[in-house]
Amino acid sequence: MVRIVSLVSGSGTNLQALLDAIGHRGPSYGAEVVAVGADRHGIEGLARAERAGVPTFVHRVRDFVDRAAWDRAMTASVEAYAPDLVLSAGFMKILGPAFMAAFRDRVVNTHPALLPSFPGAHGVRDALRYGVKVTGCTVHFVDEGVDTGPIIAQQAVPVEPDDDEAVLHERIKTVERRLLVDVVGRLARDGYRIEGRKVYIP
Ligand code: GRF
Repeated sequence: MVRIVSLVSGSGTNLQALLDAIGHRGPSYGAEVVAVGADRHGIEGLARAERAGVPTFVHRVRDFVDRAAWDRAMTASVEAYAPDLVLSAGFMKILGPAFMAAFRDRVVNTHPALLPSFPGAHGVRDALRYGVKVTGCTVHFVDEGVDTGPIIAQQAVPVEPDDDEAVLHERIKTVERRLLVDVVGRLARDGYRIEGRKVYIP
């Protein structure tokens, strides 16, 4: 059974979709969420973990002398759960060098745009402002850059003329949650290999 630590910063609906899939499918899903970490207290993502009986931890950047110390604390807390995969599901911090050294090729992120278009924290707003007619979501491995790692899967979502950021983001998230659950399950059950920028799931 593949062990997943999920990192969250907000509402945690992607995490919930994963917890629900595991709840419905049981061991046949191939993965379990062994812990949920966050960079802030009081978020729904943590409450979802607690309701599911999943242990949680929180490290706030401001509680450390510098970003490197925060990065080391995140790394140590995640390492304590010996995960096979780390899932960044709406986690709004860049993971640092210590974290990447410990979990290279094992950190999966979901992004609400079709990378390499519109990376960063405002992918939905940036796509809307640019005026694209199609956007979507990308599930990818994390590397040192911002949303630059090898792409695992993508799905397109139409932009409608009257969309605002909230409406478009919700349309994307409906697709994103299904894609994430599907991709994480396939990675867990079938394994994968990364060659350069290409990800192969047998
Ligand atoms: C998702 O759209 C994710 O791609 C983005 O933030 C959103 C998180 O949603 N980075 P949730 O916390 O899983 O509901």
